[in-house]
Amino acid sequence: MEGLVRERLPQHVAIIMDGNGRWARRRHLPRVAGHRKGIERVREIIETCLEIGIGYLTLYAFSKENWRRPSQEVRTLMELLDHHLREELPSMMEKGIRFRAIGDRWELSPHLQELLAHIERRTSSNSNLTLCLALSYGGRAEILKATREIARMVLEGKVSPEEIDEDLFSQHLYTSGIPDPDLLIRTSGEYRISNFLLWQSAYTELYITHTCWPDFDRDAFIRALKDYQQRERRFGLTTEQLRTGVR
Ligand code: IPE
Ligand code: IPE
Ligand code: MG
Repeated sequence: MEGLVRERLPQHVAIIMDGNGRWARRRHLPRVAGHRKGIERVREIIETCLEIGIGYLTLYAFSKENWRRPSQEVRTLMELLDHHLREELPSMMEKGIRFRAIGDRWELSPHLQELLAHIERRTSSNSNLTLCLALSYGGRAEILKATREIARMVLEGKVSPEEIDEDLFSQHLYTSGIPDPDLLIRTSGEYRISNFLLWQSAYTELYITHTCWPDFDRDAFIRALKDYQQRERRFGLTTEQLRTGVR
């Protein structure tokens, strides 16, 4: 466990995998070289989660805003995704990984949509690690989607406005059934959320590192987990209340 306390491990880690382009540029390589190297790190971090027993890992792979990138880069990213998802299915089965895609998937190619649905179905009974891949994902769009669904239910008389609570709302997000992230890591030193898990990260601990994603290895991940284990999560209470358990 490398100095980690098992009882204080985050149940759910979410990562904004940023800095592939800068990593490549510093090496005078095309941006895609950063994306390729980044995929190796995805494998390494998944492996580490399985090894130390983290139950949920959510990776921000492509935002809704990323559609506005040069079409060549978008195309390459989609090809990489398609290729590696296909390649990884046997290993997901072998390792007991349950796969789930979150985001506005109708914006993806029909082919990729089918592939995602296929992998979700095949891995649905696995239970060692739930791997959520955020694709064409935007937190605001997700909140609007939930709002629209609930508004429709109100119109149909299935719920009253008073019955709309946080639980009901959460059930209409893409992450329904998945616990909120305990730890959110962002690589490459950007201090922003970039429209990721806006609702779900209300009380998530943030960890920002200047390391770019293609350099974010197992050791860097363990460092982030150790940092997390030093935190006191108060959820609005006082330290005193937490220590004594008296409310
Ligand atoms: C993250 O790296 C990968 C995606 C957003 C798809 P970037 O491609 O954003 O790399 P930088 O931020 O330009 O360095
Ligand atoms: C966030 O990174 C999205 C992903 C990592 C997939 P960006 O590189 O798109 O974020 P901004 O544009 O710098 O905020
Ligand atoms: Mg970026």
